[in-house]
Amino acid sequence: MGDMYERNQTTVSEFLLLGLSEDLEQQQLLFVLFLGMYLVTMVGNLLIILAISLDSCLHTPMYIFLANLSLADISSISTSVPKMLANIQTKSQSISFGACVTQMYFSIVFVVIDNFLLGVMAYDRFMAICYPLSYVTVMRPRLCTLLMATSWVLSNLVALTHTLLLAQLTFCNANTIPHFFCDLAPLLHLSCSNTVINQLVMFILGSSVIAVPFGLIFFSYICIVFTVLKISSAEGKWKAFSTCGSHLSVVTLFYGTIIGVYFLPSSAQSVNNEKIGAVLFTVVTPMMNPFIYSLRNKDIKGALKKLIDKKIFSM
Ligand SMILES: *[C@@H]1O[C@H](CO)[C@@H](O)[C@H](O)[C@H]1NC(C)=O
Repeated sequence: MGDMYERNQTTVSEFLLLGLSEDLEQQQLLFVLFLGMYLVTMVGNLLIILAISLDSCLHTPMYIFLANLSLADISSISTSVPKMLANIQTKSQSISFGACVTQMYFSIVFVVIDNFLLGVMAYDRFMAICYPLSYVTVMRPRLCTLLMATSWVLSNLVALTHTLLLAQLTFCNANTIPHFFCDLAPLLHLSCSNTVINQLVMFILGSSVIAVPFGLIFFSYICIVFTVLKISSAEGKWKAFSTCGSHLSVVTLFYGTIIGVYFLPSSAQSVNNEKIGAVLFTVVTPMMNPFIYSLRNKDIKGALKKLIDKKIFSM
């Protein structure tokens, strides 16, 4: 009896990440695809951060939040993709227990911070359009710093909660994760302990982290739309609304993905949906964000152009 107990309790020291495909040819294709997406994301978001920090005209709340979003995007994709690429290249599937938990921690932090940042950015647009006269006095640098700091602290607290709860679990013999990084849900499936509390906390924290910013965004845009409708000239309407364009595009992309992956009925199994969702959130959204801004935003395009001109002339 004692012997069996010990054998069942052999704790797992490493996990195996099965990745997105076990087929070797497909793996090479995925390698090229994900390497490309990784490089595009890094270059795109770094350019945005550079353009915003070097151009003093862009030192306004909206762009400071945007730079933070780019930072979160860079970090988000860097938690999962480099390890996945390395594993394909070395034909290994292993990830140590510590690395796995670290990956889970940071993947939670950056998805949560994306939600908070989108909420904060909606509040910023709401103040700018609905209360333009008090905007400058309300959105002072100190409030911006406070909002950003709160977002970073809260998202770390969410990740810490999940990690501490995960630390209570026992992992027996099963150590194969059918996923391309250590995401929370597949890790919970693996544990041989009772995970009811973990699932419950995942549900409660997950839905509040999505619902609260989404509610904020929703009500901000209702007020924004009503305010814009009251503007009499068509040109004025367009001018007011165009400052929301890039935020609205990212919000649509982000929540469209959530609805598409988790709420629309689909014939695929939920494991596949989980993987598709993870690819979209950790890879595709971070990659798309810079394009949405730089392609649609005159100020950022101008700042980038200045940046490039300056570099060329100084060489
Ligand atoms: C993020 O926001 C903080 C606080 O407003 C700001 O000081 C910082 O420069 C921003 N980060 C980036 C990368 O711009």
